[in-house]
Amino acid sequence: MTDSIVLVTGGSGFIGSHLVERLLQDGNEVHVFDIVPLEQAMNLKEVKDHPNLHYFQGDLRKKEDIERFWVPEAKVMYHLASVVGIKNYISDPLKLIDIVVIGTRYLLEVANRYGTKVIFSSTSEVFGKNPAVPWKEDGDRVLGPTYVDRWSYSASKGVCEHMMYGNYKHTQLPFSIVRFFNVYGPRQNPYFVVSQSVHKVLNHEQPLMYDDGKMTRCFTYVGDIVDGLIIVADSEKAVGETFNLGNSVEVSIREVIQTVLRAADSDIGYQVFDTQKEYGNKYEDIIRRVPDVQKAYEVLGWKAKVQLDEGIRRTVKWARDNEWWLK
Ligand SMILES: NC(=O)c1ccc[n+]([C@@H]2O[C@H](COP(=O)([O-])OP(=O)(O)OC[C@H]3O[C@@H](n4cnc5c(N)ncnc54)[C@H](O)[C@@H]3O)[C@@H](O)[C@H]2O)c1
Repeated sequence: MTDSIVLVTGGSGFIGSHLVERLLQDGNEVHVFDIVPLEQAMNLKEVKDHPNLHYFQGDLRKKEDIERFWVPEAKVMYHLASVVGIKNYISDPLKLIDIVVIGTRYLLEVANRYGTKVIFSSTSEVFGKNPAVPWKEDGDRVLGPTYVDRWSYSASKGVCEHMMYGNYKHTQLPFSIVRFFNVYGPRQNPYFVVSQSVHKVLNHEQPLMYDDGKMTRCFTYVGDIVDGLIIVADSEKAVGETFNLGNSVEVSIREVIQTVLRAADSDIGYQVFDTQKEYGNKYEDIIRRVPDVQKAYEVLGWKAKVQLDEGIRRTVKWARDNEWWLK
């Protein structure tokens, strides 16, 4: 996408800010909607004075904010705003549901009015604890009981996916859904496995080994995700489709911690974090989370390029150069 008007919700967040930078570099006029005021949006500090960046501080739960923000000529709307991180959604599932479900409903209503294509950012969490990995896009969703708060995120994102398909039936509004798998890289809030480990190790603290560290994830570098988002938005073949965007290499949490320690040249070790003790029955862990990425490759020609060693090396270097993030 070049020389176009584009909208990005959650543009001051981790993935959103990387996307905004790339869209600006490619010559687009970028309109960001985020609840954080621009002065506090540290992730956008390199581009905050860019002449093609327009920033609107608003709340997805207020339809009038979305209406005031919208630019009718916009070609595409990347919808990234959400409550993110297990700690946040188990502390207030109702707030999560309001922001993700009601916010997305409002947004879709306005997108329908102007015919703006929507790219909806979903998550590998929609598959829940389906043991049949790797997960294809049409794989089953296997969720736990509703009194376990962690499933509120998966359920909310799942409802939004239904909303995209349901809306399309009535309006043919073009949309695509992308499901991200454990994204990491510079600027991520320091409470995810990679970012938290980098943050702790560079602050001379021991990183946390969740339980026995044997659960696996497929960690995807943020630059690969930005490539995927842009390819999806540009592709006619992607309309009405869902794609897994993830690295196919499966890595244990233990290996991640070892990789961070190596990249930071540290021998500080780790401390064990007992998830049952800390989160109680509000939490249920998913042992393996692996995408099948064939569809994204066949339809879009996309696959993750940056492997974990390299991505963590870049993240550690960036963190060392950015004192504000380490605080
Ligand atoms: N990071 C990952 O590993 C990952 C994995 C799967 C899916 N995702 C999805 O990708 C998207 C971006 O995630 P991220 O990691 O960049 O998260 P992030 O928390 O860094 O960014 C989310 C942004 O949404 C904004 N926001 C929250 N509530 C809002 C509201 N009521 N109104 C307006 N803005 C609001 C926040 O201020 C923040 O800037 C999310 O939709 C998330 O569900 C992320």
